[in-house]
Amino acid sequence: MLHFPVLLEESVDFLITNLDGNYIDCTFGRGGHTSKILRKISPEAKLTSFDKDAEAYEFAKNIKENNFTIKHESFNSLSKYFDEGSIDGILYDLGTCSTHLDNGDRGFSFMRDGPLDMRFNIKKGKPLSDWINNASYDEILNVLYSYGDEKHGKLIAKAIIDFREKKRIATTFDLANLIKDCYPGSRKKIHPATKSFQAFRIFINNELNEIAESLQQAKKILKKNGIIVVISFHSLEDNLVKNFFKPQNLEFPKDIPINSIMSQEFKCIAKKIRATEDEIDINPRSRSAIMRVFKKL
Ligand SMILES: C[S@@+](CC[C@H](N)C(=O)[O-])C[C@H]1O[C@@H](n2cnc3c(N)ncnc32)[C@H](O)[C@@H]1O
Repeated sequence: MLHFPVLLEESVDFLITNLDGNYIDCTFGRGGHTSKILRKISPEAKLTSFDKDAEAYEFAKNIKENNFTIKHESFNSLSKYFDEGSIDGILYDLGTCSTHLDNGDRGFSFMRDGPLDMRFNIKKGKPLSDWINNASYDEILNVLYSYGDEKHGKLIAKAIIDFREKKRIATTFDLANLIKDCYPGSRKKIHPATKSFQAFRIFINNELNEIAESLQQAKKILKKNGIIVVISFHSLEDNLVKNFFKPQNLEFPKDIPINSIMSQEFKCIAKKIRATEDEIDINPRSRSAIMRVFKKL
């Protein structure tokens, strides 16, 4: 299946404030947002896109515009390439592409059998199968609670330990089926492995840390009045983003006659923007998208 870019018009409209500006798309994917930005900006403007996935990088090589560059790297390396105050707008469209879920060989989906990998960048780190066959009960439980909010985490962690005493957990179906078998009650709509797969994906890709590191760099490289647009797909990402841009309460020493002052580097100019019913009809994945937009003051 093709990847449908989410909140495409809305995000790019907010992002571009100067047609000749310097822009970054942190999550190229299949280039939905990148192509839209390139159609909108002038040939004098610049766009640099990032993706740590090798297939996304290969796909990006089909884009021939002279003002476009692709980096096969994590978006936590922004400050390696850009000077402070040099960028007009930065876009994040977080999470996975449909193309990850559709390809069983990547190990992202509980609906397709394949090696249990789940890494965006298969050249870095270890596949999930290496970790899950060696982690302790507590480590597994911690991932399920922290990144999946999985209320049956204890049952699942125990089922993982029991399973691997007999056989290595090697495939997505090994993991999905053992979760299904231990999961209490019948859940008709949502697969019992949904939250666990999300939790393991966030963990194995170090997703939340990389987002936080990237936002820290994004803050610096943006120009005054520069824009950051973030599209998130679950509350952990969205809360991280929201809290990151909250005004800071600066504390002063006791001998200075000011108790505290709010330091506001960014203004939130749009919050909790969601896909329309029309978009959700065409692309059900957009149902969980939340967009926030911030402007550097
Ligand atoms: C939802 S998709 C982006 C889709 C894209 N906006 C489009 O319209 O085609 C998210 C992409 O971000 C990439 N990604 C995830 N974490 C990343 C990171 N830390 N650095 C760079 N790319 C990352 C994934 O590989 C995936 O291709």
